Amino acid sequence: MGRLLIQISDCHLPAEAGGLFRGIDPERHLRAIADDVRMRFPDADALLLTGDLTHHGGADAYRRLLDTLDGLAPARYWLPGNHDLNGVMADVARESLGQKCIDLVRWRLLMLDSTARPDGRGGGSLAQEELDWLEASLATAGERPVLIALHHNPVPVDSEWQDQIMLGNAADFWRVVDRYPRVRGVIFGHVHQVQALQRGDVALYSAPSTAVQFQARQAEFSLEPDPQLAQPGYRVYRLQDDGRLKSRVLRVECGA
Ligand SMILES: [Fe+2]
Repeated sequence: MGRLLIQISDCHLPAEAGGLFRGIDPERHLRAIADDVRMRFPDADALLLTGDLTHHGGADAYRRLLDTLDGLAPARYWLPGNHDLNGVMADVARESLGQKCIDLVRWRLLMLDSTARPDGRGGGSLAQEELDWLEASLATAGERPVLIALHHNPVPVDSEWQDQIMLGNAADFWRVVDRYPRVRGVIFGHVHQVQALQRGDVALYSAPSTAVQFQARQAEFSLEPDPQLAQPGYRVYRLQDDGRLKSRVLRVECGA
């Protein structure tokens, strides 16, 4: 039977409704994404919101985000990105949102905060206590296959400017993860592009942004010029009972 998860990332909602982000209305895009999820995946088990949910927005921006995504799945969980305000998220969080260790039938899902030690350019790291918590949560996972979610990419994506702002202490992260062969997948946002990579037995997936995409494999920042690849999107994961992880990307046409 498995579990069906929907990853929504990098929504960059502005502080006030109607505000723009890189020339588009992120809230309109998010509504289109929500409509698509509602139509295609009425059986979704959970939403995973993997950071940059607002663009330094306040409580109102987070409430608009949650209202837009209301009713898409019986459970939803979030973690912060470099553009988020952790304190505001904690104030606004309701239901299961702030939960970090979630057991979904056979699987264990771990939600990490990678916004420690910000470098001022978008980079972030896992605090030591977050690494300790990861280790403890992996140690108690037993035979469960594990999926780990965080905002920053823990591997390079072959874009010089983005690789400079990836997870700052990726080596520390892998030092922990590599000791636990039950980790099947690591998923992230941040890069505003679709990536599907492999590191040993661990599959690595990024979700596209629900707002705007960045061109892959570039030395410097560049918006995605290909109209198809520039469309907003989201990722779907099937966590199978046999321990296999399946994923695909859905894109939503919603104009400029
Ligand atoms: Fe972002």
